Amino acid sequence: MKTVKVCVGSACNIKGAPDVIERYKRLIEENALQCDVVLKGCFCMKNCSCGVSVELDGTVLNGLDPDEAEVQFRKLIMGE
Ligand code: FES
Repeated sequence: MKTVKVCVGSACNIKGAPDVIERYKRLIEENALQCDVVLKGCFCMKNCSCGVSVELDGTVLNGLDPDEAEVQFRKLIMGE
């Protein structure tokens, strides 16, 4: 089971965390990953300055928009 965390702290929320969460929900559903991936919200990851912060199976990334968040999800979670 892989864990995906999206920061829902105030800075990330303003910078688009809800859009990243929706993108991840869609990816999980479209690729039938419900049994393999847990999607969680988390509090501030102390990387507030440049965009949405996420943690994909232990790898912390920041400054993501939904498109880049999808690229990283496909790479780190789906192994594409
Ligand atoms: S609010 Fe998301 S890293 Fe701080």
